[in-house]
Amino acid sequence: MLKMNYWQAEWPLLVDVCPCDVHFNEWVTSQKLKDKTIYHFGTGTHHVVGIEQAKRKNRVFAITASKEEYDAYVKLVTENSTVAKNYLAYFGDIYLSNSGVLPEFDVVTLFHLCEFFQPNTASKEYGGLTDRKVLDLLTDRTRKGGHILFYKGSDGFAKSKPIIAKWEKAKPVKLVGEFKTLLVYRKK
Ligand SMILES: C[S@@+](CC[C@H](N)C(=O)[O-])C[C@H]1O[C@@H](n2cnc3c(N)ncnc32)[C@H](O)[C@@H]1O
Repeated sequence: MLKMNYWQAEWPLLVDVCPCDVHFNEWVTSQKLKDKTIYHFGTGTHHVVGIEQAKRKNRVFAITASKEEYDAYVKLVTENSTVAKNYLAYFGDIYLSNSGVLPEFDVVTLFHLCEFFQPNTASKEYGGLTDRKVLDLLTDRTRKGGHILFYKGSDGFAKSKPIIAKWEKAKPVKLVGEFKTLLVYRKK
């Protein structure tokens, strides 16, 4: 049995280096989205998406592969029942995503696509998905009319570009615009 590929690091809020989560919160505000269910890839230790969206009456289901970030989530929700009610972070490897345990989403962030694929990820023994399959799986879990967002500043963006180009031809999605560092698609 192989161990899960977890991230042996943690990420504080560094808006000058990685503004995607802050830009995402601003985009949600600009769209006046309320009562929506959001899938968020990469919580950071700061959990700024879960905290801000709980205030805006949206629900966030987010993944972290960092034990430290998950510990920070446990501390956060232990001390704040409103956040606990609206923000569910889970510890896992996104490449092991299983649609059977995922709800449907109105908004999906894939800011770190192509950043964490490991040499063994898609091996039979590990049982993980490719980046394209992660993208397809989360697209299928997105409701019609929902949004899928990418981060142009990601370390994985150069690798993601051709994957996104093929995906937008194969799936019922359309680029609807850019917001600061983010690319915004809509599911038809
Ligand atoms: C560079 S940090 C960015 C965090 C946050 N989005 C931000 O911009 O501040 C990358 C994030 O991806 C998460 N991550 C790393 N590998 C992952 C994996 N295999 N599956 C899911 N999440 C992963 C980390 O836990 C971390 O939250």
